[in-house]
Amino acid sequence: MEYIVLNDGNKIPAIGFGVFTIPNDGPTYEAVTQALKAGYRHIDTAAAYFNEEDVGRAVRDSGIPRDEIFITSKLWLQDHGYEAAKKGIARSLRKLDLGYIDLYLVHQPYGDVAGAWKAMEEAKAEGTLRSIGVSNMSPAIWKKFVPDFATKPAVNQVEFNPLFQQKEIRALMAETDTKLEAWYPLGHGNAGLLGNPVITKLAEKYGKNAGQIILRFEVQEGVITLPKSTNPERIGTNQDVFDFELTEEEMKEMRALDTGKGSHDPDAPGVEEMLRGAFVIED
Ligand code: A2P
Repeated sequence: MEYIVLNDGNKIPAIGFGVFTIPNDGPTYEAVTQALKAGYRHIDTAAAYFNEEDVGRAVRDSGIPRDEIFITSKLWLQDHGYEAAKKGIARSLRKLDLGYIDLYLVHQPYGDVAGAWKAMEEAKAEGTLRSIGVSNMSPAIWKKFVPDFATKPAVNQVEFNPLFQQKEIRALMAETDTKLEAWYPLGHGNAGLLGNPVITKLAEKYGKNAGQIILRFEVQEGVITLPKSTNPERIGTNQDVFDFELTEEEMKEMRALDTGKGSHDPDAPGVEEMLRGAFVIED
């Protein structure tokens, strides 16, 4: 596994295992246990995934030293604002029960983000959160909040794959050395992407599957990538991308696949309201 150095000096494994939509009380415990056995050392959860307890339990039971595993969680919208965020951070710490959280993100960038960020900066100073970042920030949202942050986000976790390469937000993030983390890195299984001739040609050349070519491209772009799979074989092969390298010419071909369009537009009318109504996190 390769590591990427964040702008605060902390190191993050370039490929992580995401547990979005996997239920608590068993299935997430099993999935994380399998992922750790397969060699993953980076698990991405969130308060709004409702499975922080299982993630923590699987990590504690794994026998792997805590400092060899990188855990990300995220603050939900209901906990925005300074005082509410302090409670939200404490809740995630309690549910995970792993002593500290390696990376904590503002999950959705609406409402009192500045207050939430201040609470996250304080937790970082105290050491309960090791790195802090944001998620789903479009260029417009980034410009609204980040210039006023005293601590620049270590990451911005956004939708990213070869068809949606986020060139505009990446240019802004480069100014603060903020790393991009990719959700839907395989286009959510998009057949047009996985069957794209540029990708299948490279898969044949390197003896890899299409998903591995996409993930290799992302890692070579300096992107931290969070592929999702429930298939044990693909869970394994999705992190087996460090024994080959795409040439600069091939990287150019991959970069040319960008359409500039994804499935989620954080700026679209109604998105904030839809998300606010989506979940309630209970203590
Ligand atoms: P499966 O769970 O059967 O492996 P994303 O991470 O972009 O959301 O994509 C997840 C989707 O991509 C899932 O449907 C998953 O199906 C599929 N997938 C995961 N890894 C690969 C791979 N290496 N090749 C093809 N499809 C994959």
